Amino acid sequence: MSIQNELLATIQDLVQPGKGILAADESHPTIAKRFKAVGVESTEDKRREYRSLIFSTPELGEFVSGVILFEETLGQNSLDKVSIPKLLESQGIVPGIKVDKGKKPLVNALGDEITYGLDGLDDRLEIYKSQGARFAKWRAVYNISDTLPSRQALEANAEMLARYAALCQSVGIVPIVEPEVLISGGHTIERSAEVNEAVIAEVFNALRRHRVQLEAMILKPSMVTPGNECAKASAEEVAEATLRVLRRVVPAAVPGINFLSGGQTPEEATLNLNAMNSLGQHPWILSFSYGRALQEPAQKAWAGMLDNAQAVQHAMLKRARLCGAACSGSYKPDMES
Ligand code: 13P
Repeated sequence: MSIQNELLATIQDLVQPGKGILAADESHPTIAKRFKAVGVESTEDKRREYRSLIFSTPELGEFVSGVILFEETLGQNSLDKVSIPKLLESQGIVPGIKVDKGKKPLVNALGDEITYGLDGLDDRLEIYKSQGARFAKWRAVYNISDTLPSRQALEANAEMLARYAALCQSVGIVPIVEPEVLISGGHTIERSAEVNEAVIAEVFNALRRHRVQLEAMILKPSMVTPGNECAKASAEEVAEATLRVLRRVVPAAVPGINFLSGGQTPEEATLNLNAMNSLGQHPWILSFSYGRALQEPAQKAWAGMLDNAQAVQHAMLKRARLCGAACSGSYKPDMES
């Protein structure tokens, strides 16, 4: 298959009505934090056990089109001794890989951060592809205050995201472009809208500069919400604010927008996505690429015990099904019980 056909086939598999992406690409420190919350020490065996369990959930592929993996998981076998990418393929799910190396402070820009990982990325992409990855993710992180993010942070992170996306496409890997505007802080929903608009506009400037093919990428933005130290906005307010920003800055050529959950509860993240999809037709498919909002119930059900396998898979499928319903605006809170 040509590189171009490979990209388009992957987009077709990933961007489907009623389906979204499961972000299970937590780095070692992050997964350790999630496991600690349910009383489990993070070891390679425990990570394998938990991730094998959720990925082998029967019928997961009805609601999940892709899973983003961490490097370790891409090379691991499941509890049934099948390679994890093969297990996912057998579920009709596309395996993907987080390729950035995490964030550090941006020099000379107090309070801003920059994502590392471009050096050697071309070689790593070839390896990941040979291991079965067909799409990738790179996360840029933006803190909000009255003055942050700075111009430097907007430009530097956009440049990294665009160079990453161009490299991915050159080897037939679909890039997920993730500019995450953090929920942390006391900012208003209006300030979140202002920052998200500036961030995403700058990202598309850079994508154009680097000739990234917009039809062969997925955008993974934050929803526009007030900061987590403020009173919450209603789902309708979040939906309207988010859509206003996206309409202004995301070209219709982009096939899919898959939101991160960013600290929203599973119910909030589902309700907010549902509200957007209740507001009629959009130029892009609006779906999810949740980490915490998909996995929290499954992690609680697991609590580090293999005996809880059925409860884990039940919780996983339930959350995926409800998020799937939110993709068509057919989710109702009473479906939770
Ligand atoms: P959350 O949905 O937990 O924010 O995770 C999504 C993700 O992939 C962050 O990079």
